[in-house]
Amino acid sequence: MTSLEAFNRIGPLRPREMSAHGGETPMTSGSTTNPASLPVAELLHVDKIYGQGEAQVKALDDLCLRVERGDYLAVMGTSGSGKSTAMNIIGCLDRPTAGTYRLNGVAVETLSDDQLADVRNRELGFVFQQFHLLPQLTASENVILPMIYAGIPPDQRRQRARQALERVGLGHRLDNRPNQLSGGQQQRVALARAIINQPALLLADEPTGALDSRTTEEVLAIFDDLNAQGITILLVTHEAEVGARAGRVVHFRDGRVAD
Ligand SMILES: Nc1ncnc2c1ncn2[C@@H]1O[C@H](COP(=O)(O)OP(=O)(O)OP(=O)(O)O)[C@@H](O)[C@H]1O
Ligand SMILES: [Mg+2]
Repeated sequence: MTSLEAFNRIGPLRPREMSAHGGETPMTSGSTTNPASLPVAELLHVDKIYGQGEAQVKALDDLCLRVERGDYLAVMGTSGSGKSTAMNIIGCLDRPTAGTYRLNGVAVETLSDDQLADVRNRELGFVFQQFHLLPQLTASENVILPMIYAGIPPDQRRQRARQALERVGLGHRLDNRPNQLSGGQQQRVALARAIINQPALLLADEPTGALDSRTTEEVLAIFDDLNAQGITILLVTHEAEVGARAGRVVHFRDGRVAD
């Protein structure tokens, strides 16, 4: 199963009401530490090994990485250096083979699959290279979907979707379906969808990889705005001009941070 299939299967498509722990967030239960003072995400000596025996690949090798609250961090590095693997772990779409991953101070390896799906719904927003909007739904309906799974009351959903779409400059395209929108507009809908439940961390894997340079600029301007409004962003990119917009760039090599 690819990480995207995992995202679609047990990510936003899983109603929160079905959560094993009755909707109480593991991020706050039993914790006495103020989450505001903790890194949003912290990987400590993380290994990720794919495959068995001779076919084994060590995709992450003792990776240590911190994402502080309010960061805008870009991960760069050659193909195969482990960027997407790290994003999948940070996004709770996959688990480390060894080491610890803390999200808002909680060691993710202690959570059940149900709790992990719940954390994914509550704490994380995702943007992918290929947008992954549902083609039969309008822009507004695509943004409403995660609110249904998060249990937002029906009478609030449409207005919140409109506000989120206005925030990304698409207040005039609420009722258009994805095939009636440009690539940059589709990615902006995906951004509105990603931030609708106010995630602690916005994760984006090559968010401008399918866009031309003008549209890339539009989408980067949105990332700038979102970060200025306090959203923590971690993105992966091959493009130097995209990395240059971030507050901090880390380079991966052979499954760890170079330097
Ligand atoms: N599901 C998998 N099974 C086996 N090996 C995998 C799997 N996913 C990734 N790998 C291997 O792990 C290593 C890291 O892959 P990863 O996709 O994280 O790289 P990346 O830095 O995102 O590369 P790209 O820039 O091409 O997207 C590569 O050697 C890759 O072949
Ligand atoms: Mg990748």
